[in-house]
Amino acid sequence: SGTGVTTIAIDGPAGSGKSSVSKEVARRLGYGYLDTGAAYRALAWHVLEREADTADADEVLASANDFPYAISLDPDDYWVRVGETDVTDAIREPRVTSAVSGVARVPAVRVRVNEIFRALVAASGRAGVVVEGRDITTVVAPDAPVRILLTAAPDVRAARRSAEVSTQDAATVAAALHRRDAADSQVVDFLTAAEGVRVVDSTELDFTQTVEGVLDVIRAATGAA
Ligand code: DC
Repeated sequence: SGTGVTTIAIDGPAGSGKSSVSKEVARRLGYGYLDTGAAYRALAWHVLEREADTADADEVLASANDFPYAISLDPDDYWVRVGETDVTDAIREPRVTSAVSGVARVPAVRVRVNEIFRALVAASGRAGVVVEGRDITTVVAPDAPVRILLTAAPDVRAARRSAEVSTQDAATVAAALHRRDAADSQVVDFLTAAEGVRVVDSTELDFTQTVEGVLDVIRAATGAA
């Protein structure tokens, strides 16, 4: 707000198709794309790298206060860096995925990370940014002109996620996803739409249909696209 950059806020759980859909919507609109989960993942990676304890709030906060984070907002050239290190792939490793909920649970860390998000949007140089995460519609950008909750049935989300992760079997991936849903739900309620948030349920939609569904909501709200 106040920056002249239109924010499209999209929340949803893992495996909802949120990242790929948000990226494609950004492409179609010529907007930037901001993956907020990447900041929590990169911070978890950074804490692990420093050999600090990801379950210790003070150690996590100390790491967050010394966190040289950079991310691309270009949907066609996505990368994430911590200092000089490109962590684009490393932050998807299971060891990071297992640690990330603990890092994201620290309230002061969330405040710090939200400042990073607002600065990135303001400096994006784009007319708009599609911001995707768990608390974008409620905390990061509650005044966004478009706020969407992208959902899908749990079994469908687990199946999509296991298709993405080739290094683990489907049951392991499903168990990890349900564990992370449970841990993440204690921090933000991303399974219920807040007032004024439009739900797009992708359970029975393919990728293209989901993108169209999101674009329809954006068109209805802004007249754009
Ligand atoms: O979307 P993702 O799986 O990459 O998110 C990684 C973790 O970060 C997830 O476990 C929850 C947390 N997260 C959050 O707490 N708030 C956000 N806005 C985005 C992600």
